Amino acid sequence: MRELRIALLGAGTVGGGLIELIQNRAQALQARTGTEIKITAVADRSHRKKAFLQNQSFDVSDDAISVIERDDVDVVVELIGGLEPAREWVLHALKKGKHVVTANKALLANHGKEIFAQAAEVGREIGFEAAVAGALPVVRNLRRVWVGSDMHEMFGILNGTCNFIITRMQKEDMAYEDALKIAQEKGFAEADPAFDVSGRDAAQKLAILSTLAFDHLVQESDIRVEGITELSPLDHAMAMRMGKVIRLLAVAKKKSDGYHLRVHPALISSKHLLASVEEENNALFTDDPYSGPTMIVGRGAGAFPTASAVLSDIAAIARNPEGQPEIWVSGSQSMQCASDASYRFYLRFRTLDRAGVLAAISKVLADHEISIATMHQEEGPEPVDVVIVTHGARESKLASALDIINAMEIIRAPTVALRLEEPGQG
Ligand SMILES: NC(=O)c1ccc[n+]([C@@H]2O[C@H](COP(=O)([O-])OP(=O)(O)OC[C@H]3O[C@@H](n4cnc5c(N)ncnc54)[C@H](OP(=O)(O)O)[C@@H]3O)[C@@H](O)[C@H]2O)c1
Repeated sequence: MRELRIALLGAGTVGGGLIELIQNRAQALQARTGTEIKITAVADRSHRKKAFLQNQSFDVSDDAISVIERDDVDVVVELIGGLEPAREWVLHALKKGKHVVTANKALLANHGKEIFAQAAEVGREIGFEAAVAGALPVVRNLRRVWVGSDMHEMFGILNGTCNFIITRMQKEDMAYEDALKIAQEKGFAEADPAFDVSGRDAAQKLAILSTLAFDHLVQESDIRVEGITELSPLDHAMAMRMGKVIRLLAVAKKKSDGYHLRVHPALISSKHLLASVEEENNALFTDDPYSGPTMIVGRGAGAFPTASAVLSDIAAIARNPEGQPEIWVSGSQSMQCASDASYRFYLRFRTLDRAGVLAAISKVLADHEISIATMHQEEGPEPVDVVIVTHGARESKLASALDIINAMEIIRAPTVALRLEEPGQG
């Protein structure tokens, strides 16, 4: 029986899940891959505090470098997270001729090019299915199933924390802070949720997916990012009146003026498949002229969903340990990222309830060639909310208009601007 020997760096949420999964599924894995997959060593800086690492069949250490360099290791699984020392250890593992499997989106979104260049040089594989959307096979689909595609657009719900908060706000008419508190109590949000709710986590994942979909190097910094912290229950109520729901979308579109890459909360039709993605679930909706619209949905995070994606990469290496490594980008696409785009916008202004307010806002919008489709004012004590939905307008023109409007004395809070998206409509 062939063996595939694993060194695990980082035995936290996902690493702990992986140890349990490999142990629980040892026989099935052996039968399905024709290989005995076993962990030979684990490196973790706080292994002494982790009861589940004691009395195991593998060696445990806090010295990652000597674990990587062991002769009885074929695959290094990096699950410590963050940029350094993860980058250094992954490069070191490749130089030592080990395959690498990682769930580290930050690492690939920022250093993917360097890491894949090293892997190509030594002829070793990098598995990273778990880096985007946990158990959902989005990386494998983009690399294998859609290898002949001409992907025009992708829409992802890639952050379970944000989707949980947004759908709780929508369904229970709840303030952002209350929905966040529930997410934290249920373990779907960190004590410091900034990385998730700012949209950055989704942006790192979108950078990876866009690189694969368009065969063009996309970095996190190429993506325009807006988070969910300014959403209010009124935004959800207004969306519902329009037959829409709000979701934090990771959007990648290929257009004649370049790639349009955005992470932002957006209004989509309540009838769209993506509107049915609720709670902590993730999804990827794609549209390609050959395969047509598709959607993959499920658990995007958590110990076992993520560990199962890590294990799928390990099993792929077990089946074909000397295979041709997959590439990151071929470099054949040279299109640039477009910085401006046209959208219909939902705008919520928080204003004083005075005569002339609507006229003042409308004038600035008109001066910037932004035409109003509908207008609504909430009754109540000052300040009041005024909601305007525009016809198609350039993002750059809207930004200039809002700079002027937000500086007006009548405006009492920064204006909320949400795009209307129509996934699958080109
Ligand atoms: N959790 C998820 O649902 C999920 C989903 C998708 C992808 N991921 C990715 O999976 C990776 C791991 O995430 P996780 O949630 O398992 O993280 P985690 O629970 O924080 O686990 C990381 C483990 O690595 C250890 N570690 C960190 N830095 C180290 C160092 N320099 N040397 C030795 N050990 C070190 C940590 O030790 P301490 O206990 O001392 O901190 C901890 O045991 C990350 O890249 C993350 O983005 C996670």
